[in-house]
Amino acid sequence: MADADISLWTRKDLIGIEHLSRKEIELILDTAPQFLAESQRESGIKKVPLLQGRLVVNLFFEPSTRTRLSFELAAKRLSADTLGVAASTSSVVKGETLHDTLANIEAMACDIVVIRHEHAGAPRILAESHVSRIINAGDGRHEHPTQALLDALTIRQWLRRTRHDPAATLDGIRVAIVGDILHSRVARSNVWCLTKLGAEVVLCGPRTLLPPGTDRMGAPTTSDLRDAIGGVDVIYALRMQLERQKSCLFPSLREYIRLFRIDSESLEAARPDALIMHPGPINRDIELAAEVADGPHSVILEQVANGVAVRMAVMHLLVNSDAQRSAAP
Ligand code: CP
Repeated sequence: MADADISLWTRKDLIGIEHLSRKEIELILDTAPQFLAESQRESGIKKVPLLQGRLVVNLFFEPSTRTRLSFELAAKRLSADTLGVAASTSSVVKGETLHDTLANIEAMACDIVVIRHEHAGAPRILAESHVSRIINAGDGRHEHPTQALLDALTIRQWLRRTRHDPAATLDGIRVAIVGDILHSRVARSNVWCLTKLGAEVVLCGPRTLLPPGTDRMGAPTTSDLRDAIGGVDVIYALRMQLERQKSCLFPSLREYIRLFRIDSESLEAARPDALIMHPGPINRDIELAAEVADGPHSVILEQVANGVAVRMAVMHLLVNSDAQRSAAP
């Protein structure tokens, strides 16, 4: 595949999927595979010098394994210098504001700030008032854009592989997202991303965990798991976010498991070849049974591998698209 024309990217930041066009999403998806090829090289150097001399700072105010490591690895593979700050060890605990924290980081000449924050909107506020390129690594219940992008890349790869069609797209495929939709920024970003790419999305979970207004985003809801997963191409299980639930939103975990767990019994209602996805971390045997998470149709670890390539693509676009545009004849 020819390399994508990165000069088409014109945004300073990546805050969410909601305001991206289909073309912008596809530009990221088309830029990522070259980095996947680099990462999968068996021998030799896996690094490219595209961010050499640049500084990427990871500011994580919530726990993370996959996203933090993935951004750090992506930056290192692009040859950037990287620094990481965790909320618990930063001066935020002494009362410093987020703006002051970022101003101090910028005084050290950083180029990209990757931020995960418990408050929806924190990355946007920083992006609007600071010169650094800001990447949202998850803000409250709002968005987790790079998760949706790596998910879309994983689905597209699977379609291209199984349909033996190197140009296959997500147009017309059907995806069921199942679980704690209410608290899920992954669900919100995925609804925007998948529907913009032409997929049909249905959201399924207990009534109390289905937020109002998702119809306006183009995703109907149901509390009938069999109805939701019957005939879909992709089943996307979400983590039950027990830490965000301020009140009891369903009778018991046992009840949730009985009605909504993706396991070999509930999968009898699904296509036998349906793709199984999960953003991680998994509550094993709560939202997803171990035999399904580790089964032949699960691409959960492929999602993680694709995350590095997608984040390399995003950082490359944010930093290098201007230069490429100026250099164009
Ligand atoms: N998928 C995801 O965001 O995982 P982490 O919370 O471990 O980063």
